[in-house]
Amino acid sequence: MITVNGIHYEIPEELHAKKLSDWLREDLMLTGTKVGCDIGVCGSCTVLINDEAKRSCKLKLNDVDNSNITTIEGICAPDGGLHPLQQAFMDAGAIQCGFCTPGMVLSALALLLKNHRPTRGEIRLALKGNLCRCTGYQQIIDAVELAAGIMYPNK
Ligand code: FES
Ligand code: FES
Repeated sequence: MITVNGIHYEIPEELHAKKLSDWLREDLMLTGTKVGCDIGVCGSCTVLINDEAKRSCKLKLNDVDNSNITTIEGICAPDGGLHPLQQAFMDAGAIQCGFCTPGMVLSALALLLKNHRPTRGEIRLALKGNLCRCTGYQQIIDAVELAAGIMYPNK
């Protein structure tokens, strides 16, 4: 069984070798998970697996049996509003074409769940596997700092 955004799925045997990224996009229609390189290089397919950032194009469904997966569709507020990281990316001007953004946000979320007040160096390190062709990265670092202050204001 695999849990995605709180919903449980039994995986039939014939799908065990299917890529997680393809299953999310083609079978669950969770197309917020982007596939750029499809070979584990760009980070655009990043999802959270048990709160760790992982590249879904490098995993088969068999690899994630009994895992709890969060995609970009699963992080919104209970009322459907944007997650503070999503809002911060908008406010900091950290989005241009947006293709890298779901992966960036989920890598940043994995960091902030563990480290509530990361330094800019720690943010860079956590996002080093997520490539962006548009923004030049500074605004992305700004956005993660901004979100940390909103998510954990008393740190
Ligand atoms: S699509 Fe998975 S790392 Fe590029
Ligand atoms: S905003 Fe275009 S790739 Fe990052």
